[in-house]
Amino acid sequence: MEKSSSHIRNFVIVAHVDHGKSTLADRFLEITGTVPARQMKEQYLDQLELERERGITIKMAPVRMLYKHPSQINADNDADQRGLLYEDLTYKMRGAIFNVYNKLGPSFKENVYGNALEEEFKKNGLEYEREKSIDIIYEGKKIGVYKPDFIVEGKIILEIKAQPFIGKLEIKQVWHYLKGSSYRLALLVNFGSRELQIERIVYDAIRENPRFDPRKSAQVEYILNLIDTPGHSDFSYEVSRALAAVEGAILLVDATQGIQAQTLANFRSAQAAGLKIIGAVNKIDLFPDNNDSRLENAVRDLAELLGVAKNEIFLVSGKTGQGAKQLLDAVVSRIPFPKIAISNSQFSISNFARALIFDSFYDNHKGVVASVRIFNGKIEESDGIKLLATETDSKIKETGYFTPQLKPVPELSQGEIGYIATGIKDPQRIKIGDTIITNNKSPAWPAGRQTTNYKTYALHGYKEAQPVVFVSFYPEEADDYESLRSGLEKLHLNDSSLKIESDQNEVLGRGFKVGFLGRLHFEITSERLKREFSIPTINTFPSVLYKVKVKGVWREIVKPEDLPEEYEEIFEPMISIEIIVPSEYVKKIYPLQNMFRMSGIVTEIFHERIKIKAKMPLAELVSDFDDKLKSVTRGFASFSYELIGYEKADIVKVDILVAGNLVSGLSRFFPRQSYEREARTTVERLKKLLPRQQFAQSLQAFAEGRVIAREDIPALRKDVTGYLYGGDRTRKMKLWKKQQRGKKKLKTMAKVRIAPEIFKELLNK
Ligand code: GTP
Repeated sequence: MEKSSSHIRNFVIVAHVDHGKSTLADRFLEITGTVPARQMKEQYLDQLELERERGITIKMAPVRMLYKHPSQINADNDADQRGLLYEDLTYKMRGAIFNVYNKLGPSFKENVYGNALEEEFKKNGLEYEREKSIDIIYEGKKIGVYKPDFIVEGKIILEIKAQPFIGKLEIKQVWHYLKGSSYRLALLVNFGSRELQIERIVYDAIRENPRFDPRKSAQVEYILNLIDTPGHSDFSYEVSRALAAVEGAILLVDATQGIQAQTLANFRSAQAAGLKIIGAVNKIDLFPDNNDSRLENAVRDLAELLGVAKNEIFLVSGKTGQGAKQLLDAVVSRIPFPKIAISNSQFSISNFARALIFDSFYDNHKGVVASVRIFNGKIEESDGIKLLATETDSKIKETGYFTPQLKPVPELSQGEIGYIATGIKDPQRIKIGDTIITNNKSPAWPAGRQTTNYKTYALHGYKEAQPVVFVSFYPEEADDYESLRSGLEKLHLNDSSLKIESDQNEVLGRGFKVGFLGRLHFEITSERLKREFSIPTINTFPSVLYKVKVKGVWREIVKPEDLPEEYEEIFEPMISIEIIVPSEYVKKIYPLQNMFRMSGIVTEIFHERIKIKAKMPLAELVSDFDDKLKSVTRGFASFSYELIGYEKADIVKVDILVAGNLVSGLSRFFPRQSYEREARTTVERLKKLLPRQQFAQSLQAFAEGRVIAREDIPALRKDVTGYLYGGDRTRKMKLWKKQQRGKKKLKTMAKVRIAPEIFKELLNK
């Protein structure tokens, strides 16, 4: 089969957490025979051990599937009978054709009309291929090629004539071409006559031959590139990158839960990315009679969200596979084929390739590997490449695609999703969102250009991920510092949203301050460090990024101990949060408003439920908001959030002193309303955890220039007089005095030594 982008469909499945993306992806893998039945296991694309254990997707997972599809005939048949086949697209094309005719009139050659139409298509954002060869099939065999003037959006053939008259003969000719191809609709346009003539020609195999079996005749093999994405809001950065690499999305909704907060957030992102969105309601196996109001409501609400009729929502069960094939057929017939990216430079881009890096990882054999979407041209395994952001040149070691394992192929062409083993050793040189271009197709290179100008070839990348939670990691064993560094670097390659800086703590030694996209992201990363690189670590409390004004100058701080003594103001990051909850639980949420400093609360009825919008400090979300919300609503509430900026914070820094020494790493910010209570709890916990010493230890919480909570751990008493039997009282007193002096000395010498295990326990809240 000729490799052409009109046979490629790139799509994602997006949904709220646990609505069944990975399970539906399993069915797609089965239907397309991508994974042999004996190798199939549940949630196949969740390849990380941690994903399988926790039952959540953390990493996006691309996979290529080959799918034989009956050339859109079934899918489009109904539409055509209602006269609707490609109605919108035909309408837009007609507009372009009329514009050209109105401006040029009837006296030019076909080629001139073709060039003018190209300009109109570009202006209107219509994708087209000009004079592309398509196969003519006869009884299942290729018998020749046909080059129509245009194929628009991979769907409609456009034939241009510039003759005084066209009649049945020309129409019949186009009809025969349609018959031998996989296309259904052609527009035959004659610019040459005194009045513009547009013939709409439909080839309907079923009407022509009622016994026609579309599966046997015009089957076309499609390359379907699916990217399975995570559902939890902490990983929305993964989703946004996947969205930039595809043209369409299946928006999946669990029939028992209906639209949830992440459904809305994903819908908005897919819409903003300009994707074709197909709605599907999942888990219909739970409603064998199909007449449950929850199912009906889920379909109604999703149709309303997408602005489509209810019968355009697919009903599927990822578990039983019901409806999965129809949904896959819709992926082929409704999602546009890959677009040709237009360069923002003035130079021709036809002779070299451009690929967007949407992910990367480290492979023990292949080194640094980039997951890419090819936007222009063709990348071959021996090509020289340039990475634009880091201005790195290299030679490709291997190209291939995902099965989801790595499958080498000699080249990747326009529209495809695959991987490039970059031959680059240093992970730091790969930036997610960067563009790779081939730099060995010399004719394309503008002579005498400066290297920096290569950047004009850059594809539209992504916004840098904004870390919101910061935690410092220290190796439990100081010797593991270097392993921790290399482990973090490798994780970073696979997770570009991590922001890593070196850090130092008096008790815990050298480590790294790492920025995360949320609390779950932090927990998962520390678990991955432990498992994938065998590095146990001690972590500080999660914190957010504060802005502090000192002598009129703004500074950013993460660690409370970095707060200068004399500051004027402190600002903290705020989020707008959207919670969807069944109405019976709304009352339970009210107490959370105070606890988590929510403000500006607006509630509205959202179908049968309530949608609550509010403003809240990000620090509250990072504490235990998620757990609390789940527990008060028994898991029936869902939420999504976005950062909205900074506001003045009424918070207090609480330091912890042991035996008069400040313990670095234990200072925290608390809201004014709760800092005293929190301080008391901390010193009480510390008292339980710290072992007794030779000397008495005071445990103090210190805030705003005063001690606000105190506990004491008494000294261990060693019997220094034990060997003196009898009643030599003065001798005993002497020894006791000496012991006291010794303890005093010990105490002044004692830098607070808190064992790492205790630190870990303390921070484990
Ligand atoms: P995340 O990636 O973590 O967001 O989850 P996901 O959307 O990929 O969901 P997943 O496929 O892991 O499924 C979540 C749960 O729903 C699992 O327990 C599945 O077995 C179950 N599930 C998925 N699809 C169906 C279905 O069609 N019917 C039923 N009854 N259960 C399903």
